[in-house]
Amino acid sequence: MSEDGGKNLIVAITGASGAPYAVRLLEVLGTLGVGVELVVSRMGRDLLFREAGILAAGELKDHLDARGIDVSRLTAYSEDNLSAPPASGSHSTRGMVVCPCSVKTLSAVAAGACRTLLERSAEVTLKEGRPLVLVLRESPYSLIQIENMRAVTLAGGVILPASPAFYHQPTDIGGLLDFIVARILDRFGIVHELGVRWGGDEL
Ligand SMILES: Cc1cc2nc3c(=O)[nH]c(=O)nc-3n(C[C@H](O)[C@H](O)[C@H](O)COP(=O)(O)O)c2cc1C
Repeated sequence: MSEDGGKNLIVAITGASGAPYAVRLLEVLGTLGVGVELVVSRMGRDLLFREAGILAAGELKDHLDARGIDVSRLTAYSEDNLSAPPASGSHSTRGMVVCPCSVKTLSAVAAGACRTLLERSAEVTLKEGRPLVLVLRESPYSLIQIENMRAVTLAGGVILPASPAFYHQPTDIGGLLDFIVARILDRFGIVHELGVRWGGDEL
């Protein structure tokens, strides 16, 4: 575990396609004993239902619990709750991941908007110099989206597109999900054993 091992990770879910990435990420974080502060946008809830059959944040916790995942360190906040702990820089966290991240939320982060708890938490994470990872899902990209990615990158954020690779020969969707979840955990220095790391070819 990294030196930030005791701190919580803020996990936000927005209305981009890719809710199964979020569910798998929360499963793995629970298994690894990483504390999570969860914020789900209104469209994030919609996509959680469409793509994973999960109705709301409460049911998400039940879903994880039913799979034997420890949810005792998972706290969910409403995106309208602007006085929740992640809204303040004095509340120390190990950073924030938005997974999946819509281009709408990308634009809000690039603009420094703080209209919801989700947007405010992202802005706080950047201003405090903590890791912010946006697992963006869109295709193709417009120039405006590319400029927004540039702005977030220059501000210290990481754009981590939901673009799984195939060189590890995944045989099911789980292999694709784990590829992206592993890359997210790597960015936060969270030790894991997901997937196989590329060792390179011998001559
Ligand atoms: C079925 C469905 C799939 C969507 N997929 C994406 C997507 O992959 N990427 C994206 O940026 N927006 C996608 N959207 C649009 C977003 O949900 C919409 O822009 C929303 O306002 C995002 O709000 P949020 O970022 O606050 O969750 C999708 C919407 C629906 C209904």
